[in-house]
Amino acid sequence: MGTGLILGIETSCDETAAAVVERGRRTVSSVVASQIATHARYGGVVPELASREHLRAIVPVVRAALEQAGVGLKDLDAVAVTAGPGLAGALLVGISYAKALAYANRLPLIAVNHLEGHIHAVLLREREERDALRDEEPALALVVSGGHTHLYLARPNGGLWSYKLIGRTVDDAAGEAYDKVAKLLGLGYPGGPWIDALARFGNAAAVPFSFSQVKAKAHLRGKTARTKGAESSPIADLDSHFLFSFSGIKTAVLRYVEVNGLRDEAERRADALYPARTDGDGAAGAVRLPQTKDEALALCSRTTLDLIASFQHAVVGDLMKKTFGAAERLGVVRILVTGGVAANRELRERFSQEAGARGLEISFPTKALSTDNAAMIAAAAWPRFEAGEFAAADLSGDPALRLA
Ligand code: KG4
Ligand code: ZN
Repeated sequence: MGTGLILGIETSCDETAAAVVERGRRTVSSVVASQIATHARYGGVVPELASREHLRAIVPVVRAALEQAGVGLKDLDAVAVTAGPGLAGALLVGISYAKALAYANRLPLIAVNHLEGHIHAVLLREREERDALRDEEPALALVVSGGHTHLYLARPNGGLWSYKLIGRTVDDAAGEAYDKVAKLLGLGYPGGPWIDALARFGNAAAVPFSFSQVKAKAHLRGKTARTKGAESSPIADLDSHFLFSFSGIKTAVLRYVEVNGLRDEAERRADALYPARTDGDGAAGAVRLPQTKDEALALCSRTTLDLIASFQHAVVGDLMKKTFGAAERLGVVRILVTGGVAANRELRERFSQEAGARGLEISFPTKALSTDNAAMIAAAAWPRFEAGEFAAADLSGDPALRLA
């Protein structure tokens, strides 16, 4: 009998992560080394720097995950690794290391899709918190992160799950909009947590942002949507009611900043929060990360706070409209919301309220497992381990790996 312990490794973007999870239902350890300090000064992830940081961190992070779990490599049943989607060079670091560990210790290697990992972050929490497994009911899963805004119908299929793409963004991901707006306003990177913290100090009704219906335009027919580092998939076949578009609101925020003369204020804020942001070679530790969001709050005018609150209110509202619309259309009574943006306080509150009003069940990952981590990768690997679905020795990363 095996131990049921799987070591998960995740390096698809800017977090180096390793975790040990037992039978897809108990997190034994989870270690995440963030590269925020490296990328913050650039206001976004720099792929070359990400690969370099993964190389530095992978060995100590895996060691820490095993140590915290109190287990050795010989106690594992398998090694699981993110195979995509993500940054090519970043994926390569995790995959190479996972392969070497698996080979040297005669362990099976399991390839996991990053998006399936995010979905399993919610399932893992459900399994941890309830004794009864809920793995027999279909669910509508909104994966909303820096690289993705995708709606899937997730159906249990024995222990494994199958996924059907229902909707997706045709341009930016919601988290990308958060990050770009935060950068524009001279706030920290990644932008989501900053906007989340500041939004409650502004008036969400101050700026009436709106989302027009995304049309399955002629130029999109037969084509695929592309978002940075993300999978590409056909959108012409999707119901246009469930398509997202977040590049418009980013432009609208930019216009609002110009018209209302908020640019100088944003510049001053960036200088105060990131004094070292333009010099040096990106060495970790060179950037002074603000300790509290209060520091940023003191640097924001009322107009800026109102803009931030209005932006967030509009984004969450649009995510809700399409998600609940799809649930209704598909007759699904169970919703999972996951990915970095699912950490958002307003999103959780409003989605929960709406689900309650509609008599739907809704779940989120724990806040820590909303953003990228390796526990979700080890959890998603469990049903594959049980089914004997192992990766070939020549596994390579696929930056545009699709889930459905
Ligand atoms: O899932 P994740 O860690 O990485 C990707 O797979 O992209 O998501 C990161 C994204 C970033 O865009 C970040 O700004 C956003 O999630 N994010 C948030 C919050 N925390 C992280 N967005 C809104 N509110 C938050 N509290
Ligand atoms: Zn992610």
